[in-house]
Amino acid sequence: MTWSNNSWQNFTAIHMPVYNEDIADVKKQLSHKEDIVDAKSINELKNLLKGNGFIVQMGECAETFADATVEDITSRINFMEKFCEYLPIDNIIKIGRIAGQYSKPRSEDFEVVDGKKISVYKGDMFHDYNNRVINPQRMLLAYEAAQKSYEIIKNSGKKIFISHEALNLHFEAGLTKLINGKHYNVSAHMLWLGEKTRFLKSAHIEYLRGIENPIGIKISSNINTEDLITIIKLLNPQNAAGKIILINRMGAKNTPMFLENLLIAVKNAGLSVIWIVDPMHGNTYKENNYKTRNLQDILQEITDFAVILQKQGVKFGGIHLENSPKQIYECIENNKPLVPEKYKTLCDPRLNQNQSFVVAELLVKLITQV
Ligand code: PEP
Ligand code: CO
Repeated sequence: MTWSNNSWQNFTAIHMPVYNEDIADVKKQLSHKEDIVDAKSINELKNLLKGNGFIVQMGECAETFADATVEDITSRINFMEKFCEYLPIDNIIKIGRIAGQYSKPRSEDFEVVDGKKISVYKGDMFHDYNNRVINPQRMLLAYEAAQKSYEIIKNSGKKIFISHEALNLHFEAGLTKLINGKHYNVSAHMLWLGEKTRFLKSAHIEYLRGIENPIGIKISSNINTEDLITIIKLLNPQNAAGKIILINRMGAKNTPMFLENLLIAVKNAGLSVIWIVDPMHGNTYKENNYKTRNLQDILQEITDFAVILQKQGVKFGGIHLENSPKQIYECIENNKPLVPEKYKTLCDPRLNQNQSFVVAELLVKLITQV
């Protein structure tokens, strides 16, 4: 079937906001907005990804509109720069989870707060944290916040590409433009397909197969090998280098069991992909009602990932982290318990600065060993 900006509507769209009102006007407004990123810089990222670089993709689990300020964005830019300076690599490709990470797929639809059942928070593009009513106007606010955030990044003079999960396809399609005969999503350089929308016949795959941007695919141990190969071929029919980034997020328990066979299958299928590791999302558990992750598990998954890739002669392509420069303690370290004052995330537990540098130190070790 031919692809169009709207062909995804014939597929199974889950984790999307359901709007009660007509959104034609909002979509029209979005399509008239100025590009946040240009096609040239999207192609530039794709070209960089064809080379031998190391991807550092990091940032908030969920950004808020309120944090799209010079102060906050600058602090995140500086944090990313500092993290990258730790690594003994001169060709780091920096991709922020920044300037657009406003929509979250959630496992539960509801939660109980003060005895009342309310919608879980699904990101600022869906609704306000303090008023969980879905509102399409927030797509326009998301555009403004992303545009402003990327402006701050550009003004900083740092070379940081921007990325977010392609979740709200009304927003993504609204910001998809035909440029020199090809479609580009001009809201971010790179987009990724989340674990929860990564299934055959998914509207998200249908949308993503039509755009030029580099695409990440989150991979848990639930994946079926044949499905993954089908999805990669759908998203990259020409098997172009620099287009597909496979993001392992199997968790410390499952990575040793499932990664190697998948790696071999993808290799045997002759597919050009970049493998990176997200050691966050497969290691989440609950402790006293707090969602958390253990730093040890995070380090373990990265190590196993590196060892398995090396054994198979596959390049360790990079890292994907949820972390924040704020004074937080959300991931558990040395059994030190969580405290409400330092647990501030609106969604998933993030690494703080020190914990991030522990990860960086491990990366130094792994990279210099290889
Ligand atoms: C995320 O990256 O915030 C996320 C939801 O990840 P995943 O789709 O891998 O669960
Ligand atoms: Co997350």
